[in-house]
Amino acid sequence: MALLEINQLVKHYGETVALKGINLSLKKGEVVVILGPSGCGKSTLLRCVNGLEEIKSGQILLEHSGQLGKDISWVNARQHIGMVFQSYELFSHLSVIDNILLGPLKVQKRQRAEVEAQADELLKRVGLFDRKNAFPRELSGGQKQRIAIVRSLCMNPEILLLDEITAALDPEMVREVLDVVLSLAREGMTMLIVTHEMTFAKQVADRIIFMDKGEIIEQATPDNFFTNPTSDRAKAFLNILNYDIPGASFADNI
Ligand SMILES: Nc1ncnc2c1ncn2[C@@H]1O[C@H](COP(=O)(O)OP(=O)(O)OP(=O)(O)O)[C@@H](O)[C@H]1O
Ligand SMILES: [Mg+2]
Repeated sequence: MALLEINQLVKHYGETVALKGINLSLKKGEVVVILGPSGCGKSTLLRCVNGLEEIKSGQILLEHSGQLGKDISWVNARQHIGMVFQSYELFSHLSVIDNILLGPLKVQKRQRAEVEAQADELLKRVGLFDRKNAFPRELSGGQKQRIAIVRSLCMNPEILLLDEITAALDPEMVREVLDVVLSLAREGMTMLIVTHEMTFAKQVADRIIFMDKGEIIEQATPDNFFTNPTSDRAKAFLNILNYDIPGASFADNI
């Protein structure tokens, strides 16, 4: 079995059918990037996998745990599946370290010394150890987003879901965040990523999924997807982005 398996996932918002029967599996260590036009269901898919939306039908299965929301509760499932959002979602009244320690101490009931040692290591890794006692308001957007990633990693997730985590950042901060994600990918972190950064998508992805109107239209390796998309909708999407010069859309040479 794959690490994560999504079967026939259907999600409605009232009359709107946001996901029309999604099938998708993720192997351990695999990085899958989801692309597609605004409103096609990318965020909804990630939110469903993290139990933030009630689904109409279908199943989400995690290796060793079974069906999410059934064999394993969503609260427990979220300890295996971390999610980072565009808007950081840090607690403004807590320092960086307290933001990071909250889940591991309160939810996972781990020992403070052990978690703090792990947090220190991760903070050093993302270059923010010296901001350990700062508050979110004292950090730049890029720093906040790196802290949000550290906070997720400190729960030791098996899978990380990233929903446009650089969309709110000034261009000069995009790279410092994407570099962290690239290094996680190289270390074998399993990730499902929604991004509008095409050069980054091409670099980080083992597989690209192209969605439109709640459906997966195309799946391909990054090379194949960007040089030779098969569906008209993917071609139109890449045309709109003006993706005719490989590497042109994002910082030149990550
Ligand atoms: N809370 C909600 N209530 C009602 N409809 C919603 C809600 N959230 C999303 N939708 C609808 O579901 C569909 C999919 O939305 P979703 O946010 O998943 O798209 P997306 O691919 O993430 O788009 P974007 O690239 O703009 O972030 C859209 O038609 C959207 O209007
Ligand atoms: Mg979205």
